[in-house]
Amino acid sequence: MSKLLNANGIHKSYPMGQTKLKVLKGLSLSIEKGEFVAIIGSSGSGKSTLLHILGALDKCDKGMVEFKGRDIETYSGAEFNRFRNLKVGFVFQFYHLLDELTMLENVLLPTMARAGTFGWISARKPAKKRGIELLDRMGLADRIKHKPYQLSGGERQRVAIARALMNDPELLLADEPTGNLDSATGVGILEALEAFNKQGQTIVMVTHDDRIAARADRTVRLADGKIVK
Ligand SMILES: Nc1ncnc2c1ncn2[C@@H]1O[C@H](COP(=O)(O)OP(=O)(O)OP(=O)(O)O)[C@@H](O)[C@H]1O
Ligand SMILES: [Mg+2]
Repeated sequence: MSKLLNANGIHKSYPMGQTKLKVLKGLSLSIEKGEFVAIIGSSGSGKSTLLHILGALDKCDKGMVEFKGRDIETYSGAEFNRFRNLKVGFVFQFYHLLDELTMLENVLLPTMARAGTFGWISARKPAKKRGIELLDRMGLADRIKHKPYQLSGGERQRVAIARALMNDPELLLADEPTGNLDSATGVGILEALEAFNKQGQTIVMVTHDDRIAARADRTVRLADGKIVK
């Protein structure tokens, strides 16, 4: 296996009145290509904060995130956009689907963003095919025209996973993909993630559920601003 992502000495604080809330305190974590890693830790320990930093949705105060050996801070604007749009797929803790769009349209968004207005004319057909395939693999073939408010929480989360995988990212970051769901639905989502991992998809998943975490290749615990295991 080769190293895909390397976070080194990550610090992150949030302003809290006159003081600072120190959330990450010199955290380091390495992810190998093809791994399925679970991050566990109590509520408020900084799991979402860490995931956002790994996916370049947020910046750390100090430390470095390297993707394939390169510090992502050294990316040009175009490289940075490419990283965000193509290299990482992000599943948010609270889905973040667009209510006005159908499921299929939600899933197609990352590819639309990549293609731009003119590119989309030729990209549309293959993208639609892939979008439908992904929704089908997530067990949602008969829901593609539904809008988010017409779906259950588990179904929404599965759409969010399909969207994150749309541009075939090298790294999937999933924040509590089974978090707000009953355990049977959660296991269904986990099985879908496991199937993608078997085909080579690298996954970093945050969860507070030890049983879910136990099924990953490796579990690391976030406590007191650091990875402790
Ligand atoms: N934008 C922000 N401004 C100020 N404080 C923040 C911000 N985002 C997060 N925090 C604080 O940082 C800490 C870590 O938050 P984070 O969302 O990373 O925790 P978490 O481990 O994901 O928790 P949960 O399991 O509940 O999702 C929390 O105490 C939170 O209040
Ligand atoms: Mg969180």
